[in-house]
Amino acid sequence: MNDPNQVALDALLQAVRLAPENIALADHLAKTLLQMSRAEEAAQVYRDALHHHPGNTQLQLGLADSYRRANRLSHALAILETLVAEKNPPAEALLLHARVLHGQGETRSAINQYKDAIDADPDLSDAAFESLLGLNFESESDESAQRTPASWLDDVDEAGFDQQDIDDESFADLETPSIKFDDVGGMTDVKEDIRVKIIYPLQHAEMFAAYGKKVGGGILMYGPPGCGKTMLARATAGEIDAGFLSIGISDVLDMWVGNSEKNLHNLFQQARRNRPCVVFFDEVDALGASRSDMRRSSGRHLINQFLSELDGVETDNDGVLFLAATNAPWHLDSAFRRPGRFDRIIFVPPPDAEARIEILKLALAGKPTEKINLEKLAAKTADFSGADLNSVVDTAVETKLKEAVKTGLPKPITTGDLMSAVKRCRPSTGEWFSTARNHALYSNEGGAYDPILDYLKIKR
Ligand SMILES: Nc1ncnc2c1ncn2[C@@H]1O[C@H](COP(=O)(O)OP(=O)(O)OP(=O)(O)O)[C@@H](O)[C@H]1O
Ligand SMILES: [Mg+2]
Repeated sequence: MNDPNQVALDALLQAVRLAPENIALADHLAKTLLQMSRAEEAAQVYRDALHHHPGNTQLQLGLADSYRRANRLSHALAILETLVAEKNPPAEALLLHARVLHGQGETRSAINQYKDAIDADPDLSDAAFESLLGLNFESESDESAQRTPASWLDDVDEAGFDQQDIDDESFADLETPSIKFDDVGGMTDVKEDIRVKIIYPLQHAEMFAAYGKKVGGGILMYGPPGCGKTMLARATAGEIDAGFLSIGISDVLDMWVGNSEKNLHNLFQQARRNRPCVVFFDEVDALGASRSDMRRSSGRHLINQFLSELDGVETDNDGVLFLAATNAPWHLDSAFRRPGRFDRIIFVPPPDAEARIEILKLALAGKPTEKINLEKLAAKTADFSGADLNSVVDTAVETKLKEAVKTGLPKPITTGDLMSAVKRCRPSTGEWFSTARNHALYSNEGGAYDPILDYLKIKR
């Protein structure tokens, strides 16, 4: 029962594996995946290709589009903001930026960006998108260009959600992760914060009560992509044998589409029924986007309900630990940061040299290697994220495999193999820091982003 689509896809995958530096092939594979609504996988294909061709515009656009379709809007934005800031930005980048801005409820900026895109390349005009932006109804006033829940619905439909998929009982799969803090390299400070702030209160509830110490509230992690936020959230659950519920922004959007407060309540109830339980909100900025029109629309309602569930107003949240992560803390509604909510905000930087050694060690575990000079590798991989380090190892493994297939002689991986893989990879955190730097320099209220300035060694 071979599905012909799958057969074609497998052939493409194979081709890309053999020629990972071929841009056209990678692009074709990713586009095929996008057609099959497999946006996360498409994003992975683009990320891999970008390792071979850092900064390639076509690939960056593809990656941004994949993120958009996977509803990872802040990731898409991070790439697009850099592309459109260039001197003569490609028209496709402007159009895509407009779509993402629209997805975030920034209709007015979306319209401006769309107009720029069409000015640059009239062939890009898109009637369906214009109607979403409220552009093609001449009789309507400017006001009508405001985003409405209905226009979001269209957007969500386009992203492949189906209202009928909504399950009234529960949204997220309850996992019981087996990874623990030790499986996550470095991140010593963040681990310590998680222990003190949420694990100890859970394990020593009576002691905290005896001293009248109020418990509650969660931890918000922010930082560049691929540096272990999601992994650490999962490991927190593993560390204390708790259940793990991961809530992506798409789940929350589904709730809005379903227009059902009951659903959101059920989700928190699911966590409360399964205590101890770690609830992880990924890309929480998209839910509380302060820039978005959600403030004014029914989305505001959803945020308020979310906050009161978090506060445990009607039911208590004992035994439920809340973690959240974002790449774009500056988009987060400040109501999320009040005491008792995500009041502990932690910067998760790229791993330092020591952590890089640990991550490389973890990535190489179980693979045939000679004695590897990890210190030397760590010294050459400043600014690499954990994910980047993993792909360095992957790249070295692939090269080795190709040789082994050709010669029929499998050989262990050497430091030299890894060093040449490092040369072919580029740290992916640079883009994030170029955006973050501006926020830290120009909207650093109360020194919230001092850790970013410190990391960048900018005096304050
Ligand atoms: N500290 C680390 N130790 C071991 N592996 C790591 C570490 N950081 C990242 N990785 C590797 O990189 C992958 C991506 O990390 P993860 O998904 O946790 O990043 P993230 O910070 O959540 O990124 P994003 O902001 O894109 O969601 C992990 O699955 C893991 O393989
Ligand atoms: Mg993550």
